[in-house]
Amino acid sequence: MAIKPVSMKGHRVVLLDQRLLPASETYLKFNDGPAVAKAIKDMVVRGAPAIGIAAAMGLAVHSSLCPDNKEDFLKELHKVADILVASRPTAVNLKWAVDRMLQVAENWPSDYTAESMRKRLYREAEAILDEDIAMNRAIGTHGGVLIPDGATVMTHCNAGALATGGFGTALGVIRGAREAGRSIKVISCETRPYLQGARLTVWELVHDGFDTTLITDNAAGHLMANGVIDAIVVGADRIAANGDTANKIGTYTHAVLAKRHNIPFYVAAPSSTLDLSIEDGSKIPIEQRMSEEVTHYGSHRIAADGVKVINPSFDVTPWQLITAIITEKGVHRPDDDGYHFLENPDTSTKTAS
Ligand code: MRU
Repeated sequence: MAIKPVSMKGHRVVLLDQRLLPASETYLKFNDGPAVAKAIKDMVVRGAPAIGIAAAMGLAVHSSLCPDNKEDFLKELHKVADILVASRPTAVNLKWAVDRMLQVAENWPSDYTAESMRKRLYREAEAILDEDIAMNRAIGTHGGVLIPDGATVMTHCNAGALATGGFGTALGVIRGAREAGRSIKVISCETRPYLQGARLTVWELVHDGFDTTLITDNAAGHLMANGVIDAIVVGADRIAANGDTANKIGTYTHAVLAKRHNIPFYVAAPSSTLDLSIEDGSKIPIEQRMSEEVTHYGSHRIAADGVKVINPSFDVTPWQLITAIITEKGVHRPDDDGYHFLENPDTSTKTAS
């Protein structure tokens, strides 16, 4: 299905409101950077690559509001860039995309007017979107062949078309497996507390005609122990230089269980999710979200008033638990001291297991 979670129309960023899915497909329009930052914070758009694209587009549309004077233009753009980067802390794609936009503006050609720079920023934001879709397709090609024919694959959270420019990373691998001729079944974890699995992943998979089963997060270990799950594939919000991976809360638990039961555990992500500036996962900031996500089910309170809540939105899976990391460049496997992303990954499309 051609899902467009993030796009630009005229001087506006258009976001599919993911808070309302699957009940309603509603698109919201935003015409300045701070409004896009608020939409990212409020989860109108979510998923690491998608929030990076939205932020880039937020800067592009905001450039129409920047003064014509170059110095004031850049000052305003930097101010809004800071607001966008602060909207969610864990996914590095956000800062990656914003930095790329700022670099374009900082390298202002001498013959450019403010209007030429605005057009240039629009083109850059569109390029970030197009490149993300291309990277996801390549991830699907490299990763799809790792999934054996007849396998049941489990995924957690939503790393699909909704979380990216389109096609998806973890769901890109699942889609890639089908394109490679594998007949597969998919298990989606509901992903408490925000239910990205139940609400978003299931919506995408059912729409695409996959044999899809929804489970509670708590059922995953039982199913692994009973031989129901053949492979696990998840997305990522930030991957440190050694391969330690931040992803949706609960990912670490699945990875420990996968190791216990000898089930391959794959991470799929574009290189915009790599943060080679940090050597390991202990440096990844973990977003803490509001307690109501845990004390309430929808608008209905389920926990006693006065209870304390800890609600980390992400956890870090150590590299030792990850069988391979699939990027658009190929399949990276660790050696004894971790992953080495600067070395050439496996690009063979014949490996099946
Ligand atoms: O809080 P969210 O919904 O933004 O969390 C999303 C995830 O954890 C995804 O798995 C990750 O961003 C990868 S999306 C391709």
